[in-house]
Parts: sequence; C-alpha cells; structure tokens
Amino acid sequence: HRTAALIVAAGSGTRAGGGVPKQFAAVAGRPLVAHAFAALAGHVDELVVVIGPGQSALARSALGADVRLVEGGPTRRGSVANGLAALSADVERVLVHDAARPFLSPAVIARVLAALDDHDGATPVLAVADTLVRGDALLGEAVPRAGLYRVQTPQGFRVNVLRAAHAGWPADEEATDDAQMVRRLGGRVALVQGDAMLDKITYPDDFAAAEARVAWESR
Ligand code: C5P
Repeated sequence: HRTAALIVAAGSGTRAGGGVPKQFAAVAGRPLVAHAFAALAGHVDELVVVIGPGQSALARSALGADVRLVEGGPTRRGSVANGLAALSADVERVLVHDAARPFLSPAVIARVLAALDDHDGATPVLAVADTLVRGDALLGEAVPRAGLYRVQTPQGFRVNVLRAAHAGWPADEEATDDAQMVRRLGGRVALVQGDAMLDKITYPDDFAAAEARVAWESR
C-alpha cells in the first residue's frame, strides 16, 4: 500500500503563548513539528506538512529546505483538505497527524496502519482515567467513564474514504476531527491503543510538562 502522511501545522498556536506559533516552538531541543516529522518520515512513502500563511521560512528552518509544504486553511478541516489535495494519485492510505503531538512512537503508527487492513479508518485513543463530572461552578453529576476515550492522532484512513468525507461535509459545520467525519458518513473507524506521550501540547504549561515527561522517559 502506498502510504502518505499529512502533518497539520497551520494553527495559530495562540493558546500556547510565546513568540512563535507553538508548532515551531522547541521541546526537548527541537521544534514540535520536527519531532512529528522525524517520527513519521521512515514509515510513509510521502510526507506533506500543512502550514499557515507566511510560515514557510519557519517550516524550512525546522524541517529542511526540501520539505513538501502546503498552505492550510482557517480551520483544521480546511488544512487537512488542502493537504489531501496535494497527495499523489497513487496514494492508498493516509495518516493525518497534529504537529502539536510531538512524541509519536513507531508502535502507535504500526497499530493505526494495521487496523486499516479491515477498517476505513483508525484512531489511537486512551481510556479516561479520571472521574468525569458535569459541572458549572458547582459539582454536578458524575458521568460514567466506561466506554469513554480521549482521541489522539495520527488518524489513518483509506484515502478515498477520507476524501469522500471531506467532499461531503457541510461547509458551514465544524468538524472535531477526521475520524468523526468518516464515521458520520458511514465509515468504520477502529479504535487502537494510544499513548500518553501523544497528548497534545496546547497551553503554555504543556511545554514544561512535556519536557518533564521526556526527562522521565529517558532517565
Ligand atoms: O488548535 P488545535 O491544537 O486543536 O490544532 C490541532 C492541530 O491542527 C495543530 O497541529 C494545528 O497546527 C493544526 N491546525 C491546522 N490548521 C488550522 C488549525 C489547526 O493545521 N486552521
């Protein structure tokens, strides 16, 4: 199977604070997007990085001059669609990965790809460990957590199924992620075991937490 990966890195990254968009900020000595890139590079036949307008100099300095860059859209969904449009015609499978999840292991990639043998898509998930409650300012009812998962990336798809999901999606509707889009259009998406190391870096404190985790892992 010819396999491609799209790294979506076109977000503004504003919630993370700092001078550069978070996907280009460093963790464990190199930019977030460079970790994701290195993790995927040996596992796919083509690799495309989707960036925001005006970010190509940042991207080339993080990833090298030869990287394939595509300009994203105002939403993550739009960014994925632009990346899909740039893939070669003979690609059969695609992994869509958030640049904001730098620590991607070969084991997760292997689980996602293996599930595509008998599913339209696959996503890594983690079971929810904490108690979940509804609430406002005051504690509300507990939500049973059996059967609830946190969804991560890379999400893998048969490329024609993901293309159809994007083509059929209502333009005025937000999409949480690609797996949900494929599911809504009737696709079967497998859940595979995710990894705590894949947690998304979103807020300023997440950088320090990620550094601590890397230090712990490499102790
Ligand atoms: O904003 P959030 O953390 O949910 O974004 C998830 C991923 O999608 C990030 O890697 C971000 O760069 C990317 N993204 C994008 N285009 C957008 C918004 C987000 O590629 N318009």
